[in-house]
Order: sequence, then C-alpha cells, then structure tokens
Amino acid sequence: MKVILDLDTGIDDALALAYALAHPNLELIGVTSTYGNVTVEQGVRNTLALLELLGAPEVPVFLGSERPGFRVQPISAFIHGANGLGQVEIPAPRRGPAEATAVDFLVSSFARYGEDLTVIPTGPSTTIAAAMSSSPEFARQARIVMMGGVLTVPGNVSAWAEANVSQDPEASDAVFRQGGNITMVGLDVTLQTLLRANDTARWRRTETAAGRAYAEMADYYIRAYATTSPHLGGCGLHDPLAVAVAADPSLVTVFDTNLKCDTTGPTRGRTIGDETRLADPLKTAHVAIEVDAPRFVATFVDTLEEYFQA
Ligand code: BDR
Ligand code: CA
Repeated sequence: MKVILDLDTGIDDALALAYALAHPNLELIGVTSTYGNVTVEQGVRNTLALLELLGAPEVPVFLGSERPGFRVQPISAFIHGANGLGQVEIPAPRRGPAEATAVDFLVSSFARYGEDLTVIPTGPSTTIAAAMSSSPEFARQARIVMMGGVLTVPGNVSAWAEANVSQDPEASDAVFRQGGNITMVGLDVTLQTLLRANDTARWRRTETAAGRAYAEMADYYIRAYATTSPHLGGCGLHDPLAVAVAADPSLVTVFDTNLKCDTTGPTRGRTIGDETRLADPLKTAHVAIEVDAPRFVATFVDTLEEYFQA
C-alpha cells in the first residue's frame, strides 16, 4: 500500500515516519508538512533530516501552508522540545523540499494511485481540507487515516478538544463533512498505546545513529508525559498508531458515524457525531474506539528495533 504522511514533525510524528519506512506492507511515497508541534519550516527541516538519518533520502517532502497567525504553543515546546525533536541534534539535511505544493502532491498522487493510496495526517487538518476543496474526487474517494480528535474521553488541550483538531477546527469540520472515507484514530485509542523507557532502551542498544537518536527523542517525550499525565506510565503513541491502523485496520474496533467538529461556542474543537446526518445510512467516518494495544506496541517496538539494526 502506498502512503503519504502529513506531519507536524514533533517526536511522535518522527516515530510515525520511521514506522512508515520500516513497515513491511507500506511504501512511503512522500511527506507533506504541516504546522502544529512546530512551524511548517521547522517541520520540513525535521522531516528531511530524519529521512537522511533513516536512510531514505529519496522520499520527497512538500510544503503545506500555515494558518495565519500561528504560533507554537508553550505546551507543544514543552512536550516535543523547542526544535520538535526533544532537543536531539539531528545533522542538517543536505537537500530542501520539493517544488510542488503539498496540495498538488496529494491530489496528483490520488489521481495516479486511487485506492492503492492512503493519506495519513498526524497534525492539524489545514492541508487536507485544502486538498479536498481543490479536488472533489480526492475528498469523496481518498482513504484518510488520521490521528486527531476524540469521541469517548476528554480532550488533551481542553475538556473536549484534541491538540491537532484544536489548531484548525474549521479545517477538521470541512474534512469530516466532505471526506468520504475517514478513519479517525483519536485519543480514545492512542492513549491506550504507551511507550516506556524499557522499550526505548532496546533501540539505544542497537548502537546505531538512528537507534540512539530515536531513543533520546522518545525518552524526552516519555519524561514530558510523566509530568503532564503521570497516571499513564508512558507516552502516547498517537501518530504511529495511525500508521499501524492504515496498514492493518484489524488492530482497532471502529464505530461508524458521520462526524463534525464544533467551530463556534465554548466547545470549539470538539469532534462529535453530526446530528443532521444521524439517520443517514451512509456513514463516512470510522472512529476507532478499541485497540489491541499489546499487539500494536510489541510489533511497533520490534519493527523499529530491527529497522535500526539493519
Ligand atoms: C497529537 O498532537 C501532537 O502533539 C502529536 O504529535 C499528535 O499528533 C496528539 O494529540
Ligand atoms: Ca503530530
């Protein structure tokens, strides 16, 4: 299966990038860059640097657009580090981004590969919404497996909003209303999949540059979670779980519905069922509500360990 990642390259996005490269059933054809954990420019820089570190310097990286007035939130800098990568220094990339825009790459890739392509957004929905508004075929038919939103538990930036969706609720709402095939991998499941220091120790023991850097980044993330969410006992594998579900939907149980995102009022950023489409027999969203966490985490840690060793 061909995949495109739409990343706001912080630490769990970096983990998702490595997993997409390492996963035996996925072929990463490109990365589009969005903002959120970092600016678009920092995200591009991080992605290019990580692709070189991971031995995949040929994968193209495309610039998405930033929401006007965007500023990195202090909580993002705390969780992901000011550079987005837990203050781990990755050597500067030797190339820049591709010339085409993220939207053009998404739309043209769908025109080329159709149902063989899955798009995996792991940041705010701004670029995906722009691609949908520029191509009704992309909107109706492209398979999107997104990390973002939450349905059955509280949010992580407010009582009801998840971080990615909270950055651009209008874009998320447009994606839910226009998209014909959306799988939402939200906090309902990602906070059940936890990475711990004994897992990252295995990556460090590979004694490779990538294994060491990934262990350092993930440990930074685990320490941040120990401060903000000590009850979890690890860090949430948000973005890598979306990659895993794209490759193997049997990891999760889904609830089919039609989603919307509140854009006004006190619940701005809440992802919830659209009451105007409640009785519509066509359900365009598949919300992951249960996950086989042990199977996912074990496979994820093993696969990256083998990839770093190779
Ligand atoms: C999401 O927000 C970002 O901080 C993470 O990278 C993840 O995509 C979790 O709410
Ligand atoms: Ca992310």
